[in-house]
Formats: sequence, structure tokens, C-alpha cells
Amino acid sequence: MNTDGTLPATLELTDGRLHLRPWKEHDTSALVEAARESVATVGRWLPWCHADYGADDAAAWIAHCRVGWHSGEIQAFAMFEANSGRLLGGIGLNQHNPLHRSANLGYWVRQSRQGKGLAAAAAALVARFGFEQLGLVRIEIVTLPDNRASQHTAERVGARFEALARQRLWMGGQARDARVYGLIPTDLG
Ligand SMILES: CC(C)(COP(=O)(O)OP(=O)(O)OC[C@H]1O[C@@H](n2cnc3c(N)ncnc32)[C@H](O)[C@@H]1OP(=O)(O)O)[C@@H](O)C(=O)NCCC(=O)NCCS
Repeated sequence: MNTDGTLPATLELTDGRLHLRPWKEHDTSALVEAARESVATVGRWLPWCHADYGADDAAAWIAHCRVGWHSGEIQAFAMFEANSGRLLGGIGLNQHNPLHRSANLGYWVRQSRQGKGLAAAAAALVARFGFEQLGLVRIEIVTLPDNRASQHTAERVGARFEALARQRLWMGGQARDARVYGLIPTDLG
């Protein structure tokens, strides 16, 4: 991000296998396809991913992300396979606390590409971006108690389980307890 909050056209994060960049308008159809194939697994934890997810939903999300980049409130990346250019999922920083230089990290991987360690690899890239480019000193990953896949992703990137926080998440019209993982710069390998 530039110091005035605008998005450089070339912002991308890569480890050779993954290619992450801010969402663009032309990602709409790929996002719809990825979301619709993932209702059983992503939709189980993230209510936005449902069987009726359509082009309007995807376009609204992408527009929201671009506003977020410009305001500094959200840094959301589309995640691609570097070789094929296929959309793999999404990952991003949000819920910034500027006073304490912390933010929340969220991620999802499309159903057909889960189980390959992609989320942890992407999380490492985005966490490093957050620490080095945004000046964050702490990143939180907050999961529902029974979301073991997400907890293992947090642990694989180096985050530590810190607390079972009561009523930490408002989901499905009710307050839910959640496991909070903390990641600081020295946790990254
Ligand atoms: C959490 C998530 C991003 C992990 O992504 P990933 O790239 O698949 O991560 P991994 O490859 O490390 O796999 C994580 C675990 O899921 C398991 N898994 C993945 N796909 C699976 C499948 N189709 N069937 C059974 N288990 C599967 C893996 O075996 C692994 O288990 P382990 O940690 O006990 O070894 C992904 O499962 C996902 O998108 N979940 C839904 C969205 C979500 O929960 N986001 C986080 C909200 S806090």
C-alpha cells in the first residue's frame, strides 16, 4: 500500500506456488464458481458462502474490498495457483486496531483444493505483509471451537492458542465462544 492509502497496481505476494493480489472486478465469475463448489465446507463456517451465492454477491464483495484497501480497513487478497492462475480462495486482514497495531486474519480455500496446506502458506505471506508493510505487531486468528482445520492452519503458520474467549463471535444471530490464536512477528519461520 502506498503511504496515501492508494493501491499500487502491482501489489502481489508470492512464494512461487501461490500468487496473492487484491480482488479485481474481473474475478467475479471465478469467485462465484469457487464459492458454489464450497458450500459444504466453507459455508459450514462462513455464512456468506451459500448455494445461492451469485455474481451480485461477488461484485459487492470485490467493491467492498477495494474500498477497504483505500480506507486501510481491509486488505483482502484473492489467492491463485501460480502455475495455472486458478482461483484457490481468499485471505485478508480486517478488524484493525490502529492504537495497538493489531488486526484479524481470515481465510478460506475452495473445497476442491483443501488439504494441501495452502491456507497456512497464504497466511504466512499475508502475515509477513501485515508486519512488514503495515507495521502490525500482532495478528489474531479467531475460530469456532470445533473448527479444527482452521485451528491447525493457525498453528502451522506459528500462531499460539491464547484463550477460549467467551461470546467472541456474533454468528447466525447468536453470540458464540471462540478460540483466539495470536501471531507476532517472531512467530513466523
Ligand atoms: C480452514 C481452511 C482454510 C484450511 O485450508 P487448507 O488449505 O485446506 O488447510 P490444510 O491443507 O492445512 O488442511 C487443514 C485440515 O483440513 C483437513 N482437510 C482438508 N480438506 C479435507 C477434506 N476434503 N476432507 C477431510 N479433511 C480435510 C486436512 O486434512 C487438515 O487436517 P489436519 O489439520 O488435521 O492435518 C479450509 O479448511 C477452509 O476453507 N475452511 C472453511 C473456511 C474457514 O473455516 N475459515 C476459517 C474461519 S476461522
